[in-house]
Amino acid sequence: MFLSILSAATAGLGGLVAILVLRAITVKSKQPKPSSLAPDTSPFDGNGKIVSNLQEAIRYETISRMPGDINYSEILKFHAFLQKAFPRVHSSPLVKREVIVSYSLLYTVEGTDPSLKSYILAAHMDVVPVEGQDWDVPPFEGRIQDGCIYGRGTIDDKHSLMGIMEALESRLERGEKPVRPLYLCFGHDEEVGGVDGAFNIGKTLLGRGVEAEFLLDEGYTILQDVIKHVSRPVGLIGVSEKGRLNVKLSVDSANTGHSSMPPAETNIGILANAVSKLESTPFPSMFGSGVEYDNFVYLTSEVEYPIKLVFANLWLFQKLVESIMRKKESTRALLHTSTAITVFKGGVKANVLPPSASAIVNHRIHPSQTIQQVLERDRRLINDDRIKMEILQGREATITSPYDEQCFAYQSIGQSIKQVFPDAIVAPGILLANTDTIHYTSVTDKLYRFCPTFNLPEDIPRFHGVNERIRISNYEQVVKFYYILMHHADRQQL
Ligand SMILES: *[C@@H]1O[C@H](CO)[C@@H](O)[C@H](O)[C@H]1NC(C)=O
Ligand SMILES: [Zn+2]
Repeated sequence: MFLSILSAATAGLGGLVAILVLRAITVKSKQPKPSSLAPDTSPFDGNGKIVSNLQEAIRYETISRMPGDINYSEILKFHAFLQKAFPRVHSSPLVKREVIVSYSLLYTVEGTDPSLKSYILAAHMDVVPVEGQDWDVPPFEGRIQDGCIYGRGTIDDKHSLMGIMEALESRLERGEKPVRPLYLCFGHDEEVGGVDGAFNIGKTLLGRGVEAEFLLDEGYTILQDVIKHVSRPVGLIGVSEKGRLNVKLSVDSANTGHSSMPPAETNIGILANAVSKLESTPFPSMFGSGVEYDNFVYLTSEVEYPIKLVFANLWLFQKLVESIMRKKESTRALLHTSTAITVFKGGVKANVLPPSASAIVNHRIHPSQTIQQVLERDRRLINDDRIKMEILQGREATITSPYDEQCFAYQSIGQSIKQVFPDAIVAPGILLANTDTIHYTSVTDKLYRFCPTFNLPEDIPRFHGVNERIRISNYEQVVKFYYILMHHADRQQL
């Protein structure tokens, strides 16, 4: 009896292993098909001019601190620098330059085939402050050291803006005529929400009836050794962005007065209890309902065993993958709507009962949920009528842009990544941060977030952090990427 159970079990197990392996070896590649275009990018190799241009771009202290508190004079100097650095872009009859709301830039590039829908390349001119950070190099000098250009903005996001401009300048210099109409949208306040710059550029485009084929803005990068168990670099293309919601919780219903005769609960106690419930009960995982799942599906054909076995069989290993993702903050945030209690205030004096207490909860909303759902869930969980809830600020998650084999935009971006980073695996992802893209949702529903920056784990803290830098060899790749992308985008179809 025992033996027959054992043999049945082994047979079952053998069958299961066979299925797992079969799924792994028959998995279909979701990688972009190589394109037949091979634009000549050799002029960017060892090109001192593109390097010195980026160095100079870094020297403008285009810092934004708050909406309305931006170093406007530096932004204007940066405009003048662009005009000097890119003479062909600024003199070509094919290019129209406009200043939007005094500080943002919109370039309209005519295409030889106006019947084609336009596309948009976006980047931003402003940078985050450096106060309180202990840099090893001056942050606004553009110093070259260890084969890198250092400075605030080298990876966020001047390399991208400059790379786009270098690519267009080079096309015009070579007498190439862009086929598909192109807009370059350079906001001046992305770091504080783009509420003035990108917002008004988007509005301008909408007013002109622009319906773009796609938009590419900053976002994920080429990541090496950042994704565990994947040895090849991974180029993630952000196809959606989490939403955000700031909710203020407040309570003032408890008795106040002298602390010698306290009620059972104080306003602080009531609120602390509510906040504690929110923190200790995370939102459920949404894994399996969207991009974060497909991220693995797209990686599967490219990764090595034994991890390939896991990715190819998410039907079985979903819970395992989820539990691994849950261990790290950065991957856990991909799974669900996150909750962070960021502000807590209450109390005036040691012997006085607090007249009120308030807190702010910051949610980042998973693309499969809405602000309303998140708010209702918070209310249900708190389950206390004494707590007032008020939305301070909210923004829904963006729609998910397509990333299938037929999608011209996703494939064009992916093919361009492959040409510059032949070893890279391309996959879709959800962006946890926010970008200017949300201001362009009415001119296109194909919004992508990707920068051709090459990042090792040690590079990640440099974003908004100290010693921000880009390798010179990588910057050449940045320019090449945009140059190749412009060629891919010029095709009528895939
Ligand atoms: C802008 O930056 C320049 C250069 O650092 C500085 O001299 C000026 O005071 C700054 N202006 C503001 C408003 O921060
Ligand atoms: Zn940025």
